[in-house]
Order: sequence, then structure tokens, then C-alpha cells
Amino acid sequence: MKNIAEKLIKWYEENKRELPWRSDPTPYHVWVSEIMLQQTRIEAVKKYYVTFMKELPTIESLAKVEEEKLLKLWEGLGYYSRARNLKKAAMLVQEKYKGKMPSSYQELLQLPGVGEYTAGAIASICFEEQVPAIDGNVLRVVARLTANSQDILLPQVKKQITNQVKQILPKQAGKFNQAMMELGETICIPKGNMKCNECPIKEYCQAYSKQLTNVIPFRNPKVKKKTEEKTVCLLYYQNEIAIRKREEKGLLQQMYEFPNIPQLESIASIEEQIQSWGLQLQNIQEIGKVSHVFTHRIWNMDCYIVKVKNKNTEFIWVNEQELMHKYALPTAFSKILQRKEEKNLCVIQKVYK
Ligand code: ADE
Repeated sequence: MKNIAEKLIKWYEENKRELPWRSDPTPYHVWVSEIMLQQTRIEAVKKYYVTFMKELPTIESLAKVEEEKLLKLWEGLGYYSRARNLKKAAMLVQEKYKGKMPSSYQELLQLPGVGEYTAGAIASICFEEQVPAIDGNVLRVVARLTANSQDILLPQVKKQITNQVKQILPKQAGKFNQAMMELGETICIPKGNMKCNECPIKEYCQAYSKQLTNVIPFRNPKVKKKTEEKTVCLLYYQNEIAIRKREEKGLLQQMYEFPNIPQLESIASIEEQIQSWGLQLQNIQEIGKVSHVFTHRIWNMDCYIVKVKNKNTEFIWVNEQELMHKYALPTAFSKILQRKEEKNLCVIQKVYK
């Protein structure tokens, strides 16, 4: 089993990808990148990481950043509580550790938003502590190595796999952990796409020898997501568009959105809604249906461009530049703008005198 660690580390050193956070792996750099990489693909994270570090190059700057600016930097990455927790943790590091990241797994675990995986990654990569970092990639790699056909999302299976990793964890735990993740991301990839013939440890892999790589890891069928129907209005007054801030609680909290109502509406009831917002209609154009899939739910949105003759005080009216640079608009809503551009809408459906 020791051979596995040696072979993996050698493979990693020869094959690792160049990633922006790898060139200068300070605790701050590793921390931010690991948080961004949770639930988001490496390719998508790269440019966010570079901009983030340009704007907030130190823990101190993160601790002091305004929430609006932070959410703007996170716009499109999703799971926005990750960004809020980063700031909270940075404030704690400033107060309790004089601005220096704590160096032990146990202390890291106390920071908001830092779980076992992130604490393990930072402690092993930056401080050479001999602790594992088990993410979805590592779970898949180990399930295949040991031909474990249980559901890797079950907590007891994760525990079992963590214990197995601890047994083969070498002194160079940081390199080993990164090598396991890298293998999971580039070779031992999910179902159907794995590149077993390029794998440096295929001779130890039980799923490979038993031809089970297509069925391991086993996944329980997904629970059906709840679907919500909405009507969304892009309200324009001349070159300004209406947005509003979402509530303090729940999905996409305190991000910005286009005014919307929680069901599909006929044109007649949209007219009524516009009036109840204190707005006078000029015309309505249909954009069509736009859907967005979240972790636990799906939004089906019927979208309209609505031109109005006045502004109200209930909404924030912004021009395109302000919307782009100042307000964090979740992907569910920026998709609608994109769709509007693609369609280059020109047919006016209904004009009001
Ligand atoms: N994916 C997430 N974190 C990673 C890391 N540190 N190395 C390789 N892949 C990763």
C-alpha cells in the first residue's frame, strides 16, 4: 500500500497542472482557492480566483471588504454563503490570530466555512500536517481502488474511506492529497470517461481488475428537484432597468434580482402587476422561457421585457454599466439578459397608449 503513495506523488510531480494558486501556495491563496473549488469546476474557478486576488490580495483586505463588493466578486460562482463565511473567517483571523492564518487542522476547523476537507487541505498543503483532505474526487478514487460499492455520499462510507486514506497517508501529505484530487479530476473521472490506461496506480485498483469502474462509485438515484414557476419582468425606463435586493433569508439571500412573481402569469395579469408596482406601461415583449437548476430546485421562468413610462421608489433603477460593475446578479437572472441579447428582440407584442 505504501507504493500507492509513492507512485501517486511521482505521477503528480510529473503531471500536475499549472493553476494560479499553485504558483504561490500561501495559506490565504490555498484557502480561497479551496473554497472556490467546492461545487465549482477548476476551469470556471481560475478567472474568479485571479480577479479575487487582484481586488483582495490579503486577509486584511478580505476582512474589511464591503459585502456588496464581495458578492460582486463571487457573482456567478453560486453558493454565496461561501463568500460570506470567507469574510467572517478573515475577520476572526485578524482579531484572534493577528492576521496570520492558524496553522493546525484543529484551529482551522474552528473558522466559519472551513470544514474537515478545507482544514485538511490547508493544514497539509501549507503546514505539512499529516492529515487527509477528502473531497468527492478522493472518495471516487478510493471507492474504485477498493471496489467499494456502497454509496459514497453516506456519512459512514465517507468515514470508512477517510480511515483507509489515513492508513496510507505519507509524510508528504500535502502532495499526496493534491495528487489524489488531481487523479480524480483528470484520470479517475466519473462514469464512462475514465482514462484507466493512463493511471499510475491501476495495478492496485480492484474496480479496474474486476471491470467495475463503470458501476463504482455507486450512486443512489437522485431525489427529484422541486420545480418553481415564475414570471420575471425586465422593467425598462429609458435606458435604466429595475432591480431589487432579495430577502435576508433563503436562496440567493441579499443578492439582486429582476422583479418577479411566483407563478406563470397571463399578459393581462402582468399588466395588473405592473400597475400595482406603481408603473405605467409602454409596451411588453416576450423573451420566452428560461430555466435554472439549483442544487435542490429548478426555476422555470417566463420572461418579459416591459417598457414603462415612469420609475417607482420600490425598485433600484440602474443603467447597464452600474448593473455590470456594482450589483451582484445571480446566474439565474443574468441568463435572462443573455437570452434577450441572443434573440435580439424586436417584435413588440403589445403597445399601450
Ligand atoms: N481540487 C480541489 N482542490 C484541489 C487541489 N488542491 N489539488 C488538485 N485538485 C483540487
